[in-house]
Amino acid sequence: MGIRDLRRIFKGIVINPVAPDRVDYYDPGYLVIEGERIARLTLDDPQSEFPGADFRDMNEKVILPGFVDTHVHLPQFAIMGVGKGQLLTWLNTCTYPEETRFADPQYAEKISTAFFDELIANGTTTAVIYCSIHEHATDIAFTAARAKGVRAFIGKTMMDRNSPSELQEDSQDSIEASMRLFERWDNSDGGRLRYIFTPRYAASCSMSLMQRVGEIARATGAFVQSHLAENIDEVEWVHELFPGKASYAAVYDDAGVLGPRTLMAHCIHLSAKEIDLLAERAVKVAFCPYSNRALHSGTMPYRKLREAGISISLGTDIAGAPTLSMFEQMREAIRATGMTPAEALYLATLAGAAALGLSDRIGNFVPGKDADFLAVAVKPRATAEEALSTLGLHCNKNWVAEVYVRGNLMYF
Ligand code: GUN
Ligand code: FE
Repeated sequence: MGIRDLRRIFKGIVINPVAPDRVDYYDPGYLVIEGERIARLTLDDPQSEFPGADFRDMNEKVILPGFVDTHVHLPQFAIMGVGKGQLLTWLNTCTYPEETRFADPQYAEKISTAFFDELIANGTTTAVIYCSIHEHATDIAFTAARAKGVRAFIGKTMMDRNSPSELQEDSQDSIEASMRLFERWDNSDGGRLRYIFTPRYAASCSMSLMQRVGEIARATGAFVQSHLAENIDEVEWVHELFPGKASYAAVYDDAGVLGPRTLMAHCIHLSAKEIDLLAERAVKVAFCPYSNRALHSGTMPYRKLREAGISISLGTDIAGAPTLSMFEQMREAIRATGMTPAEALYLATLAGAAALGLSDRIGNFVPGKDADFLAVAVKPRATAEEALSTLGLHCNKNWVAEVYVRGNLMYF
């Protein structure tokens, strides 16, 4: 019998995020999987209803939906935790030299494979990924994502100015390479792989490059990602580079790249007007609290953005953060904002799904959604609620016992 027909029941402490301020606890709960999909989540033992189903007692492990990392740099995998200084120094001294190495397909292959293995080992089953500027390395990353079966939004970074010569592209070449990748990969592997146009940030992109991206995104409905207002020196530099523009956010808006399928990372140093503009354009914000602390970038005004109605999800932003663990992002989000562990779990799962237009496919345990989940060995524990607080405040990768991607055990 193939995985597609297999019916399985997992018994454990199931924690199901359903809204920013609400998780449902099943202690114990029974998660019924049919092939690659969730069939049911219930408090009552369903074994008599599903005779012949494979039964697994997870022995008090906590079962969570797979994490959604909405901002991560694959070619920075090998430099997690390396370097010092703030953003602009760190880009020049650590990040760019490492990304240059992706011109070598063998190196790109080695890091791409290791990256997806580590992503899954951390319980992340969907990710929104920056590659290097190299078209071929981006093909390699897509191929690696497909081999592992994860959901991924992947884009070739675009940079046509203010970059080291090995990483600087001709504007037209950058557009053409991105278009080829879009045509080759967008909606491939059953729709699980999406192409995302990736102008790195306004400082390394000309207005005309960003305008072309805006036109393409409007014409095709493609996703776009970039960085916005991460660091004070970066913001000042962007003001200098675009002297006629009202603000950093206005630069992107004038280029036509702000829309509901655009993800902007960081969004720390924004004026009230810029926050309103992002809300009006329904831009999605990737909150990367660990990176923001590690690079001394500042603290994103989480409540202000939420109150403006902006959709916020979590991102690791490696190598800004020194770990791919979404538990560690949850912990940083709790520390930075005072949010509850329940809200942090929501940000790490269902909020990411919603930002990507995938809340009907992933993000929590609802019948019909993909069976993407992890089992976490949280102990000792008394109640499911205490387990959630341990998850939010204490856990890391070492606590992840098993990870399933569409019903397939991919890590144990
Ligand atoms: N801004 C432009 N590029 C980057 C990057 O690679 N990482 C972070 N954190 N910010 C950026
Ligand atoms: Fe980033």
